[in-house]
Amino acid sequence: MAIAITLTMMSIYILSILSENLYSREQVKMYAKANIIADTLSSYSSLDAAEEEDISRILAGTTVRGIITNSAYMVLVDTAQESDIEGKVFTRDIIKTALSGEQANSLDRDSETGMNTMAVCVPVKHGDTVIGATYLMSSVSDIDLTIKYIQTSLMVFSVLISILVGLLSLGISYIVTAPMDEFINAAKEISKGNFSVRLKVKGRSEMAQMAETLNYMCSELETLDERRKKFVSDASHELKTPLATIKLICDSLVTQEEPDMQVVKEFLGDLSDEVDRLTRVIERLLALTKLDSGNTTAKFESVDIVVMLGTIVRKLTTTADAKEIVFYAELDEENAQPLMLDYDKMWEAIYNIVDNAIKYSPEGGFVRVSLVFEEDKAVVRIEDNGPGIPEEESERIFERFYRLDDSRARDTGGTGLGLAIAREAVIMHGGAIFVEGSEGIGSIFTIELPYVHD
Ligand SMILES: Nc1ncnc2c1ncn2[C@@H]1O[C@H](COP(=O)(O)OP(=O)(O)OP(=O)(O)O)[C@@H](O)[C@H]1O
Ligand SMILES: [Mg+2]
Repeated sequence: MAIAITLTMMSIYILSILSENLYSREQVKMYAKANIIADTLSSYSSLDAAEEEDISRILAGTTVRGIITNSAYMVLVDTAQESDIEGKVFTRDIIKTALSGEQANSLDRDSETGMNTMAVCVPVKHGDTVIGATYLMSSVSDIDLTIKYIQTSLMVFSVLISILVGLLSLGISYIVTAPMDEFINAAKEISKGNFSVRLKVKGRSEMAQMAETLNYMCSELETLDERRKKFVSDASHELKTPLATIKLICDSLVTQEEPDMQVVKEFLGDLSDEVDRLTRVIERLLALTKLDSGNTTAKFESVDIVVMLGTIVRKLTTTADAKEIVFYAELDEENAQPLMLDYDKMWEAIYNIVDNAIKYSPEGGFVRVSLVFEEDKAVVRIEDNGPGIPEEESERIFERFYRLDDSRARDTGGTGLGLAIAREAVIMHGGAIFVEGSEGIGSIFTIELPYVHD
């Protein structure tokens, strides 16, 4: 629309300048001719006295219609072939102006043919006296035709350009909106919970980058969703197993006609173990949920980690002794620096790792807890000579409910949540946790805690 309006206005402007220019050039030419004739006639003292033939001769060279009147508007000569005004009075406004001594012109439109006629009239003066008028008349159809031709060309040109621009803008808007539609559809799918949608990434445009970001977001959401589903199914499974055992124990108790008190006691003991197990799983799940909810639940305070590790080691010494494990701590007390920690959460994290080391080490093994203060962080290491952790499992081991040897770990009462809780707690403190060591030789768990964290 904007292009069409601009082109139309430009065409109107060009045409008006052009026609003005062509008309004024024609006018100048006609004035020149009329003035030459008037000059020649000015030698007569009165035009009435001049011979008609002489005047006709003077007019003979003009290619346009020429009319000579005397000062009383009477036509003396008309070069038109079949003149009906010769010898008659011919009044026109421009003749009136000429007879009063001024030159004048007019542009008349023939209502029948639609043709324009240009007329100029100049006074014929003998000295200072106006003795008549030279009136020249010419059709300007040539000019009109030229203008018409240019007008038509401009119109065709404008229409073609407008169509072309229209098609181009439709094309461009399609190119721009097509990926937008894809985005909208993808967003709808995502909001329905379908994270498998992927957009095609073409080139390096902003759109392509947005598509890439959306694809990345979808794959992250997909992973999260899968993790969530797995967590729910794992959690249900963990809760179902002790419940199934409890049900079995209860059923076998109910079916016994005359139960032996000793057997009943044993069964009740088993029941109590399973309930403890359930409680443990639920407690750990709750702890994880609390950690998941972010920093809101964290209470950071200045903690002497040397004291904290000392307490953990003391608490677990009995367990280690029971397995005749050489259990000792090497803590760099000299360089000790206080750390900003959430005491309970860090205690739980380290306790679980030391507990694991003792729990999974063979009888008569060793477990060493060490602490060094490096330039920007405190490093806690827990080493053992237990079964170790295969390298390919060293990441997965921190996943929720993941156990290396499921049945053995279950026998030891493990929930598979301890390391997941520990990792969440360490991340919350802006630190890092990882495991090294090899299968069959033992493992080294390392916790790095920065002195200042965000
Ligand atoms: N020091 C270790 N040596 C060998 N295997 C280990 C060690 N620590 C952890 N694991 C393996 O990693 C698994 C996950 O440990 P995690 O502490 O998360 O759970 P858990 O000990 O089974 O349960 P919980 O901590 O609730 O008692 C364990 O089941 C065990 O197979
Ligand atoms: Mg554990």
